[in-house]
Amino acid sequence: MSRINSGFEARQLFSVAGKTALVTGGSGGLGLIMAEALLRGGAKVLIASRKQSKCDEAQAYLSAFGECFSMAADVTLAEHRLALRDYTSSVFGAQGLSILVNNAGANWGASIEQYPDDAFAKVMNTNVNSVFSLTRDLLPLLEVAAADLNPARVVNIGSMDGLHVPIVQRVPTFAYSASKAALHHLTRTLAVDLGPRGITVNAIAPGFFHSKMADHVLKVYGDDIAGDSPLGRCGEPEEIAGALLYLVSRAGAYTNGIVLPVDGGTHISKGRRDWMNAPG
Ligand SMILES: NC(=O)c1ccc[n+]([C@@H]2O[C@H](COP(=O)([O-])OP(=O)(O)OC[C@H]3O[C@@H](n4cnc5c(N)ncnc54)[C@H](OP(=O)(O)O)[C@@H]3O)[C@@H](O)[C@H]2O)c1
Repeated sequence: MSRINSGFEARQLFSVAGKTALVTGGSGGLGLIMAEALLRGGAKVLIASRKQSKCDEAQAYLSAFGECFSMAADVTLAEHRLALRDYTSSVFGAQGLSILVNNAGANWGASIEQYPDDAFAKVMNTNVNSVFSLTRDLLPLLEVAAADLNPARVVNIGSMDGLHVPIVQRVPTFAYSASKAALHHLTRTLAVDLGPRGITVNAIAPGFFHSKMADHVLKVYGDDIAGDSPLGRCGEPEEIAGALLYLVSRAGAYTNGIVLPVDGGTHISKGRRDWMNAPG
């Protein structure tokens, strides 16, 4: 009985108070939601995305919830990643970086004959290569923040499309699906490599959530997509925020190398139909 202690109290168990976080693609969509969740939980947050105007607008919004910084940076460019590393170091100082959320992502949809090589390369480069490179570049800052029973955390935003073939999308997304499957496995590889250095690496594989990337597909196929989920709907902001807060708080400190689907069960039931009676 003596093992039960105040650490089981939910507010403490899921707290991110005092932590430092970088969210790539934090100026919109899921990144903005996760940045807000971290700030509301008491973390200091730096968001980065390509467009200065989007960064400025998001920072103005997020600053209502806590100490927020922003920087315009393209994660696919080596010099931008290094500048982002230097800025991260300057704003968080001796504390280092407790949480890296590799969320920035790209997609491209076209039939196989129409699918351009440069689009395939861009999607792979954004969703896989740059996640590896940015994580590598930030290792010294992550190691500074790592502590016993409180490792630094890397959370990669994958997709249910990396868990199954996304037939419901109707628009083929060859590179996106391949890139997210690769990202899930990169997550496992990094988890094994970085665990001994006090850094956990996990992935979240979301189903459909409203965002700029998802909304044009949802507009056309919304009913189909909702019907494909056992829960009959898309995800809500708290449902991605909750998964992230678990992985980056005390609650998730012993979780390493997982791919956590947050899709209402869609990836295990794709193509589900109502029960049919056998003929005769
Ligand atoms: N929404 C969904 O239903 C869903 C489902 C599964 C997985 N996901 C994943 O969740 C992540 C976020 O997607 P989202 O739906 O929120 O997309 P979104 O609304 O299009 O937002 C993407 C964000 O990433 C930034 N970004 C894009 N390319 C970048 C780059 N090269 N460098 C830096 N920032 C970049 C964008 O800002 P700038 O334009 O200013 O760069 C924007 O802030 C992606 O990895 C996506 O694959 C989303």
